[in-house]
Amino acid sequence: MADLNELSEKLNGIRKEIKTELEKLESSKSVFEYKKTIFDSKTGKVGSLMREMGKIPNDMKAEYGKRVNEIKTWAQDLFDEMDEKFKAEEMRLRYESEQIDVTMPSIKPKHGYLHPNTLIRNQIVDIFGSMGFEIYEGSEIETDYYNFTALNTPDDHPARDMQDTFYLSDKFLLRTQTSAGQIHVMEAKQPPIKIISPGKVFRSDDDATHSPMFSQMEGLVVDKGITLCDLKGMLDVFVQKIFGEGTSTRLRPSYFPFTEPSVEVDVSCFQCQGKGCKLCKGTGWIEVLGAGVVNKKVLEGCGIDSDVYSGFAFGIGIERIAMLKYGINNIKHLFESDLRVLEQINE
Ligand code: DAH
Repeated sequence: MADLNELSEKLNGIRKEIKTELEKLESSKSVFEYKKTIFDSKTGKVGSLMREMGKIPNDMKAEYGKRVNEIKTWAQDLFDEMDEKFKAEEMRLRYESEQIDVTMPSIKPKHGYLHPNTLIRNQIVDIFGSMGFEIYEGSEIETDYYNFTALNTPDDHPARDMQDTFYLSDKFLLRTQTSAGQIHVMEAKQPPIKIISPGKVFRSDDDATHSPMFSQMEGLVVDKGITLCDLKGMLDVFVQKIFGEGTSTRLRPSYFPFTEPSVEVDVSCFQCQGKGCKLCKGTGWIEVLGAGVVNKKVLEGCGIDSDVYSGFAFGIGIERIAMLKYGINNIKHLFESDLRVLEQINE
């Protein structure tokens, strides 16, 4: 470097170049990158100036050092200023893009529903619970004795043909009816007895209204002076609560080995109010459950004195009630977990 004039010229050139380059930059990141090249101690326009000290005549060294430091500070300030400016703008844009409109309606999280079977089961449990019934939950595997024999259905009884049974061995089977629970309860306890027993039952049966596995709710009341009238009165309350006020029941003679007399219970059609429609097949009535007065033989078999006590029993098909109430025409819809079906039913 010959003289200070030449140095000034060189430094002014660098300043000008930095200014021009900075004007082209558009982000804090590009400022950072550019600054790195300028301050690089080997190749940088400003960073490498000190390396030239060796070539500077001694009497100029002090002035050279001073000027180099000046340009360093100048460049540093300039980069800081640019960096700050870009960062402020970048922050503003980020806030703008991430802005949350708290007045927007929220996205509703998808939530699950209770299965129609569970809904009906809960409703039935609530209704009978409010009438003072206790819950007895039996087991799905039963012995032949509890499922049939003790319910007055001995080995050679033709009623066994009414239910196609899944036998597990000579003695054990999958219960075909929750009625088996009646025997366990009556064996364990003397009257007064007032229980419902919900649970799964199994039969080798498969069509639009039958499934090999389905659910029932058994009911049993045993006490002094219980008659069919008590059953009728209680069922009227039940159907009004489950199918709506204004519905009533009708008893038709039927046959079950464990009840005498036995009845089929119809409910007045809750869709046409008894006028006759597709649901009730024009009759105004829909069959909903089986019931009857507990057969004396069954009471005696459980050690209950049938001269002192009497009782009534009933068995409700949960799926049947769910299908009627929610207008489901195929029992399979209740087991296929198709959300399009299940989402329509939520109470
Ligand atoms: N267990 C019978 C069935 O599965 C239903 C039934 C009928 C239960 C009459 C009862 C009853 O308790 O009294 O078909």
